[in-house]
Formats: sequence, C-alpha cells, structure tokens
Amino acid sequence: MCGITGCVTKQGNVANILYNSLKRLEYRGYDSAGVSTVYQNNLIVKKDAGKIDEIHSRLNFLDLPGNIGIAHTRWATHGAPSQVNAHPHLDCTGKIAVVHNGVLENFLELKQDLEARKHIFKSKTDTEVIPHLIEESLKMGKNFTEAVLEAVRKLRGSYAIAVLYAGEPDKIIVARNESPIVIGLSKEMNLVASDVAAVIEYTNKVVFLENGDLAVVTSDNFQIFRIDSGIPVQRKTTELNWTLEMAAKGGYPHYMLKEIFDQPNVLREALRIQDKYLDLLTEFLDRGREIFLLASGTSHNACIVGSYMFSKLARLTTYPVIASEFIENYGSSIGIDTVILALSQSGETADVLTSLEYARYRAATIIGITNVLGSTLTRIARAYVLQNAGPEIGVAATKTFTSQLMVLALLALRLARKRGKVSQYEIDEFQEELRLVPQLVEKTLELSDEPIKKLSKETARFSSMFFLGRGLSYATALEARLKIMELSYIPCIAYPAGESKHGPISVIEEGYPVFFIAPNDETRKHIIGNIMEMKARGARIYCIGAEGDEEIKQLSDWYLGLPSTHPLLSPIVYVIPFQLLAYYTAVEKGYDPDKPRNLAKSVTVL
Ligand code: F6R
Repeated sequence: MCGITGCVTKQGNVANILYNSLKRLEYRGYDSAGVSTVYQNNLIVKKDAGKIDEIHSRLNFLDLPGNIGIAHTRWATHGAPSQVNAHPHLDCTGKIAVVHNGVLENFLELKQDLEARKHIFKSKTDTEVIPHLIEESLKMGKNFTEAVLEAVRKLRGSYAIAVLYAGEPDKIIVARNESPIVIGLSKEMNLVASDVAAVIEYTNKVVFLENGDLAVVTSDNFQIFRIDSGIPVQRKTTELNWTLEMAAKGGYPHYMLKEIFDQPNVLREALRIQDKYLDLLTEFLDRGREIFLLASGTSHNACIVGSYMFSKLARLTTYPVIASEFIENYGSSIGIDTVILALSQSGETADVLTSLEYARYRAATIIGITNVLGSTLTRIARAYVLQNAGPEIGVAATKTFTSQLMVLALLALRLARKRGKVSQYEIDEFQEELRLVPQLVEKTLELSDEPIKKLSKETARFSSMFFLGRGLSYATALEARLKIMELSYIPCIAYPAGESKHGPISVIEEGYPVFFIAPNDETRKHIIGNIMEMKARGARIYCIGAEGDEEIKQLSDWYLGLPSTHPLLSPIVYVIPFQLLAYYTAVEKGYDPDKPRNLAKSVTVL
C-alpha cells in the first residue's frame, strides 16, 4: 500500500501543497518518497529512499517550481527501497511521470515486450512499465488522454495511478482498478489522492472514482471516462464533514477498525504475490528434513494454521515453535538439513531474529514471510515472500495476520502440487476456494459488525472468557484469545476443545462464558460433544459457526452464522468476528484499541 497525490492550481506554486498532502499519506508507506512537477514544459523530479522529512531535508521538496505536480510515498512490493525504485517513474524521453499504488500482475511480460522495443528500464519496480507504455502510444500519434487510456487497458492487477506529461502541462490523469483514488475540488485548485486525508486541508468537496474509471483533472475542471469503452461518466460530488484526524483513519474512529475493514483488499493483494517468490520458498520447504515454523504472538498463531495446512494438503510435517522457546528446545539438534520458515510482519522481532542468527550459525536454511521489505528478516533469509499488506498502524495485528494466512495457503497449494500426495481434484478445489476468500471476508464483515458491536456491551463486563476450537479452529481460538486479552485486558483461556476436559473444564460454573469456533468441517460432530459438556456444567455458550447450522444454533445462547469456506481456509474468515469483538470490547471499556497498554508494535527486546 503506497500513497499517491497530485495537484494542479490556478496560480501559484504547487510544491507546498504536494508536500503537505504527502505527509498526510505517510501512514500508507514510508520507505521512500518522491515529487515531480512541470515547469516551462520540463519535468522535474526529486526522489529518494527514506522517510518524507529525511528526504526533504536533503533535497528540499519545497523549491520545486510549477503549478502542477504529483507525489508518492512508498511501501515497497517490487524492488528494495532505494533512489531508483522510488516513484515517480519516467519514460525514456523524461517527459512522462507516473506514481502508482498497487501491484501489477503482468508487468514482466509487458517489460519484456517494451525492452524488445528498445525501452530502457532503470528500476526493479512493476510501475515503470506504465510511463513506457504511455510513451509508446504517444509515439503512435495519440494525445495524452488517449495514450493513458490505451496503456491502462494493458494492465492486469491493482492500480491507482497519477500521470503527468510535460507535453500537456495543464492536466493530471488518474486511473484506478481496486486501489482507491479521490479527486478534491476547490476554487483555487483541484487535487487527486489515494484518500481524503491528503486533500481535506484544502477542500471537503470530493469525488470518489470507481474501479475502471479514468479522470482527466485540470485546475478548474475534471472529466471521468470508463477505461474499457472510453465513454464519459458522471460521479457524484460528496461534501464531507471530516476532521483531519478522521480523514487519516479513512473515516473510521481508529486505525484498527480501518485495518479490519481493509482485509478484503489486503487479501486480494496477497493473491497477487508473484509465483517466483512462492516457488522458491516451496522448493526450500520441500527439501528440508525437519521444518520449523518460527514466530511470536499473532504470527505464531498463523504458524499453527500453516502447519495444519501443510500437513493436510501437502502431507508435509512442520513444527510451529514460539520463537523465544526455540533455542532452548531445539537449538542443539538443528543443522544443515533444517529449514526454518520465520513469520514476522515487522521482520524485526528480537525473539525471532535471535533464533534465526543461532540457526544460521548452525547452517540451517532460513526463509521468511514478512510485511516489511528491507527489514532484518529480509536480510537474514535465503528467500522471503512479502505480504503486500501495507503498513499496519494499530498495535494489534489484524490485516497482517489474515494476509500471513493467505501466503501460507498459497505455499500449501504449491507444495501440494509439487509433492503430488493429494488428488488433482482436491488441489483444484482448494485453488478455486482461495480466490473466493476476499469476498467471503467482505460478507463476514457485513454479517458480523452489528451483532458483535451489540455483544461487546456484554463481553466488556466479563472478568474472564474461554475460547475453544478443534483442528485449525484451535488456532482461531488462540488468536481470538490474544486479541481480546491484549486490547480489553480481560484474562482469557484458549484450548483445543478436545483437551478442555483434561483440566480446564473445572473453571466452568453457572454462566461462565465459553466461545466455540464451529465451522461445518470434520471437527463439527466432536465440537457438538464439547458444547454439551460445557452446557451440562452451566456454561453460557457463544458460538460462531456456519450459516444455517440450526443444530448448533439451538445449543447456543448466542450464535453468529458465517458463510461456508474450504475447511483449510476457515481461520481467515472465522477470526474476523473476534477481531471486531476485541476492538468493540476495548472501546466499550474506554480503552484505546490502537495503543494497548504495555505493548509496542515491534518488540525488539528479548
Ligand atoms: C498481537 C501482536 C503481537 C505480534 C508479535 C510478533 O496482536 O501484534 O503478538 O504478532 O509481537 O510480531 P511480528 O509479527 O512483527 O514478529
């Protein structure tokens, strides 16, 4: 997730406005940034790696001349954070500049084709194909608008782009597919941006583009076209009464809630991860004699899901281990045949890194999944996959957890194909169902939000809660417990439901709240037995199960039905109501869910 912005003023310099807008977008990415303006028919670019203010102190964005410009703050997905990979990207003539938020699926084929036509590429980004495609169309005699239309029709994947052309210096062209774009309208200027946060200081009149829209924006006008047909369309202008702070959170009261609702899109981006990275990890996993899945906290819960997926779909045994326990427990036996798959959204967790350094010293192979390009994990690992989830600001991991699960599912699918231990039918079915997950999560958010908000009034009064699930749902129970405990400070217990009778059941007394995760999978009949055991001892039963499961609904005091998924993918869907429950319970108790006490986003001490 990157941030893009642009502005064209009636008169006066644009540099200050671009700089302010860019700062408002920094929460969307902060590993590099750049600004481009047009002055006297020349394109001027300043860009570098680093945070916006660091770059500004070196290059001074404010002395860029001109009344039109675009800007970008980056969260790397293709190519490390560096000066050449920072946006804007230019064509061969240096007259077209493009900033981009999203992931292009077909950039390699487009790049090969353009290279065959003698285009010179400077960066490792997917974005750089766009200015060269536009250059090709301009060469064929098209005007700027026609050239951008022609270029974006060739793109597959997600994009929000803003384009500047020194040959037509009165307009910015923007286009979107899946990544957002808003146009801000004012008397003095028009603006474009990834979100309202970047424009609200200048105007509250905005127009949201829809997928498949392209807009030509001048200082006093704008026109929107459909990309596929080129036909003009009208979009309504909205007047927002948002404060700056509300705008930064996309209109949500907290970053955490925004990040929970971002998940359908984040999962779509995870599905776009390039095959070559997944294939490399698959290769290492398949070669290992013993394989550990190493992480802390929420990432460890993702590892538990991963180990079930690898075992069930690829018949590959792996051991999920809590990072801080790894050296003591397994340190002396690891060696050259050991493969460690480390999961860390930040890539900086000290417990994870210490174990990896130790394992590296003993010649183990280290591979990783992380959300932060350039993090220490990416430097230690032989190979890694980036989650493409964008920065997570809320301290509690939400969107990075579900995107980790998506990456693990993609790896399980590849491992299954490679190892050939399950039928082609099962593999195809899993692949089909994977594609449906973003929309199932969308539906789950819709179904859960209101009932969970209501439930939080009850949970806020609890002094303890119990979470039970079997199989993969055990990992969901662990994650539910962690989220609710860390945000609402209510001590919680999570167990595999089958294990609960071996001790924990003694805590049950009349009215004690027990949450069951009960999807319609092979664990269902045993879960019914566990519900009965708890009911018999007076527990109050809260159940999240499949839509239409009347039998479990009847047994429950409170029930939420969710859309059905492939059994191996259920944690991605079933964790959503618990994330919401953690959020709303914390708010109900008057706590700040974005900044739970005693916690830090990245834990860099042992
Ligand atoms: C919980 C949470 C933490 C992290 C843990 C590991 O919501 O965010 O438990 O999951 O500190 O962090 P990473 O994944 O950055 O290694």
